[in-house]
Amino acid sequence: MTDFRNKVVYQIYPKSFLDTNGDGLGELRGVIQKLDYLKDLGVDYLWLTPFYPSPQNDNGYDVADYRAVDPRYGTMEDLEELIREADKRGIGLMLDMVFNHTSTDHEWFQRAMAGDPEYKDYYIFRKGKPDGTPPTNWESKFGGNAWEYVPKFDEYYLHLFDVSQADLNWENPKVRQEIQNILKFWMNKGVKGFRFDVINLISKGSYEDDNQGDGRRFYTDGPKIHQYLEEMCSNTFGKDPSFITVGEMSSTSMEHCFKYAGADSGELSMVFSFHHLKVDFMGNEKWVLVPADFKKLKEILFSWQQGMSDHNAWNAVFWCNHDQPRVVTRFGDEGEYWKQSAKMLASVIHGLRGTPYVYQGEELGMTNAGFTNLSQYRDVESINHFQILRDKGMSEEAAYCILKEHSRDNARTPMQWDTSENAGFSSGAPWISMNPNYTRINAQSQVGDPDSIFSYYKALIRLRKEYPVIAQGDFAPVDQAHPQVLAYRRSLDGTQLYCINNFYRKPCRWRCPESLEGCRVLLSNYPDAKPGEEIELRPYESMILIRETK
Ligand code: GLC
Repeated sequence: MTDFRNKVVYQIYPKSFLDTNGDGLGELRGVIQKLDYLKDLGVDYLWLTPFYPSPQNDNGYDVADYRAVDPRYGTMEDLEELIREADKRGIGLMLDMVFNHTSTDHEWFQRAMAGDPEYKDYYIFRKGKPDGTPPTNWESKFGGNAWEYVPKFDEYYLHLFDVSQADLNWENPKVRQEIQNILKFWMNKGVKGFRFDVINLISKGSYEDDNQGDGRRFYTDGPKIHQYLEEMCSNTFGKDPSFITVGEMSSTSMEHCFKYAGADSGELSMVFSFHHLKVDFMGNEKWVLVPADFKKLKEILFSWQQGMSDHNAWNAVFWCNHDQPRVVTRFGDEGEYWKQSAKMLASVIHGLRGTPYVYQGEELGMTNAGFTNLSQYRDVESINHFQILRDKGMSEEAAYCILKEHSRDNARTPMQWDTSENAGFSSGAPWISMNPNYTRINAQSQVGDPDSIFSYYKALIRLRKEYPVIAQGDFAPVDQAHPQVLAYRRSLDGTQLYCINNFYRKPCRWRCPESLEGCRVLLSNYPDAKPGEEIELRPYESMILIRETK
C-alpha cells in the first residue's frame, strides 16, 4: 500500500505552464519537456488541471467531453507519452475530475436541450416560482442567480458556477454510472490519482430559498454525499490502495472531512479545505479588502491539524492553487524580504501533518500578477464580480484594487522559466499577460543556486522523505497565542521536530515554552539560525529544528 504521508504533489495549470508551438497557450508537450525539472524538485505526483475539450469559459472546468484531450492542449498520444515519461521518473499523474457540472456544450446537455427526457434527467431542471422567478434565490459562485431560464421548457436549470456549467443530477443512477465509467477509462490509461473538483457540492438537499445566505447550506456536504463518494470509490479506485485521491471541499466542515478522508472510511485519500485561506475575507465575502487575521489563520490551521489527526483522517496542505492569489504577495513580502518570506511560508506548510501541494511557480516565489489594466483579466469570476461591485456603486478604482488582491488570475500568469522574451513560456503572444518581474524571478536563475527558493522547496521535499517525524509525526501547537510567531511541534518515537516561524517583517524576541535543548537546525532561511532559550527572530525568520534520541 502506498503511503501518501511522505509524498508531495505538484499542481500544473497546463495553459500557463509551457507553450511549445507558439500559439500562446501551454500544452501537454510543454509538461513533457519539463519533467526533468519536476524530478529535480523531487515531487511524486503531478496534478493536471483540466485539458479536456471545453469552450474554456472557466478555463476547462467547463468540460464538454470527459474522455478526450482538447486539441489546444495536444492529443491523446501526448497524454499517453506524458504518463509514460513521468512514470520513468517515478512521477504519477493525477487528473482533475469535474463532476459537479458539465459544460452546456457537453453532448448530454445538448440532448437534454433537444428535449430528450433521459438526458434532461442528467441535470437539474425545475419550474420557477408561481410568480415566474427562479426556483430558489441561490447565488452562483460566480455572481448572479444560480438558475437559468429555458423558455422552451418553461423551466430553469441549476448552475452553481457559470451559466455554461450545468449541475449534474447525482440522484440519477445513470449519471453515477457514467462517472464511474469515465474514472475507469482514465485508470486504464495508467493515471495514478484523481483530484475531484468541488465534490462536496454534488448532493443537493432541499430546493428552498435561503434567507440567511447564498444557498450553500442546502447543497454543501449534502444529505447523500458520503453514500455517493463511497459508491464511486468502491466501484473504481477503491480496489487499488496505491491510488491517490483528493477532494476539493468547498465551505466544508471538519466533521464531514473526518469521513471524506478518514483512513477507514472508504472515500478519498485526502481533502482540500479552504477555511485557512478565508482569513482575508469578511465572513464568506471574498470581494473586500481586509487585512489577514493571523490569529484566525493559526486557529484554523492548527485545529484542522489536530482534529484530522485525532480522527485518523488526512489533510492536503497548501497555500496556493489556480484559484488563490500568490502566497508570497498575500501573506509574505514581495519586496525586500521576498526570498525570506517565501521560504518561511514554505516551511509552515511542508512541516505540517498532511500531503503538501506545490502550485506551479510557487517554488520560485512567483508573485501576484501585477496587472495594471482591467483588460488584462481573463477569469470569469473576476470579471463578473468586478461588474457586481460597480453595480453596487463602488468606484472603478476601488473595485480594481479588490481585483488586484483577490483575482484568481494572480495565479494564472505563465510560468517564469528564464529571462528571454515571455520568460521562455511562449514564442507567441501569451493568452494572459506575463508578470513583468520574470526578468528577476525565474527558474533559470534559481535551479542551480543553493540559496534560492527553488532549492529551499527541494530541501523541504527531501526532508519529508528522510525524516519519518515529518511524514508521520503527531502535531502539537507551540505558544499558539503569540501575536507574530507561528510555531508547532511534530513528534514520533522520541524524535521531536519544531517548526518556528516569524510570520512578520518585524523582528521579535521569542521564548519557547518548551525546552529546545539538544535541538539542531535542520533547515532555515537564514544561514546562521540559532535555537536557544530565547530566540531573536529576524524578519520572516524560519527554523526547522530536530531533536533525535540516540
Ligand atoms: C473549482 C476549481 C475552479 C472552478 C470551480 C468550478 O473550485 O478549482 O477553478 O472554477 O471549481 O468548476
